[in-house]
Amino acid sequence: MTNADLSFLKLSGRGNAYRVQEVINSHLSHSGKMMRPKIIEIFGLIFNLEKEKQYLIARSAELIHTASLIHDDVVDEADTRRGELTLHKKTTNSRAVLAGDFLLARVISELVSAGEYEILRTISEALEDIVEGEFLQDQLKIKGTNSKEELIEVSRKKTGALLAWCCSSVAQVAGAQENIVKKCHLFGEKIGVAFQMIDDNLDFSSVSGKDKHKDLQDGLINFTTLNLLKRYPELYYVVHQMRGSQFSDGPWSSQQIEEAQNDTKEEVDFILNEAKVLFAEITMSSNTENILEITQEVFNFIDQIKERTK
Ligand code: IPE
Ligand code: IPE
Ligand code: MG
Ligand code: MG
Repeated sequence: MTNADLSFLKLSGRGNAYRVQEVINSHLSHSGKMMRPKIIEIFGLIFNLEKEKQYLIARSAELIHTASLIHDDVVDEADTRRGELTLHKKTTNSRAVLAGDFLLARVISELVSAGEYEILRTISEALEDIVEGEFLQDQLKIKGTNSKEELIEVSRKKTGALLAWCCSSVAQVAGAQENIVKKCHLFGEKIGVAFQMIDDNLDFSSVSGKDKHKDLQDGLINFTTLNLLKRYPELYYVVHQMRGSQFSDGPWSSQQIEEAQNDTKEEVDFILNEAKVLFAEITMSSNTENILEITQEVFNFIDQIKERTK
């Protein structure tokens, strides 16, 4: 389940009469960081879950993630993703929406075929959360102002829900106790929120492989912009005037943005530390031998969330 081996994601079987799968498979060959499969593999070790089940969960998560990104890029009218043209730019809006729908349907049918009804229910709830998060975000864009708490609620839902599912579904399928499943859910949610906050930093980056300044151009005051305005209230009026318009440069200096990004990173540090504590609590219930090595691996993984540039 690594970048080098994408074969576990390919679609085959019914549904290629009109080349839907071909379009999706070609799109899947430009993979992302595969963060969700990696975390599922780690949780698979902790809960001693058989490889076949790990693959099922990882494939479901990555296909749902891909569908949500394909749809997100239509909603956000984004041109680039993973350093490539977005699917709707390569094809059309309608085909991108339909390709995303196809992926969602495929995940449902695969989980039913595997008899995994409980995690089918929870992944459906995660999908509902993603939609709710996107809905709230849309409302915030129109409202034009938002608090950090509102942004955390958006992130918990649009990004945290699927990561929470990745961690909790491994525990669930492995037969862990309910309180442990809940802790895994909370752990995934926390790293999701932290991940999204860094994603907001990367909205000001030219090397992320995604459109720069997309959030503000779409009208959203994200975490980093909020931190910028907190430090430099004199920018408030101009920045708010820029919401919803196309621009290449803002009224801020690179140093001011760097300061705001560092403020975001400090908040991320706090949340990631909470996630580390939760992880340590989760491992207390594991009887896996090399728990110290796994913990170190997870802590490295967590630290990378803060340092990522893509
Ligand atoms: C991007 O997710 C969208 C968010 C949830 C913020 P990733 O950064 O995990 O996307 P890929 O799969 O690596 O491209
Ligand atoms: C990504 O959200 C989609 C989901 C988390 C469902 P964003 O719009 O914030 O992220 P990018 O920058 O396009 O990846
Ligand atoms: Mg987007
Ligand atoms: Mg979006």
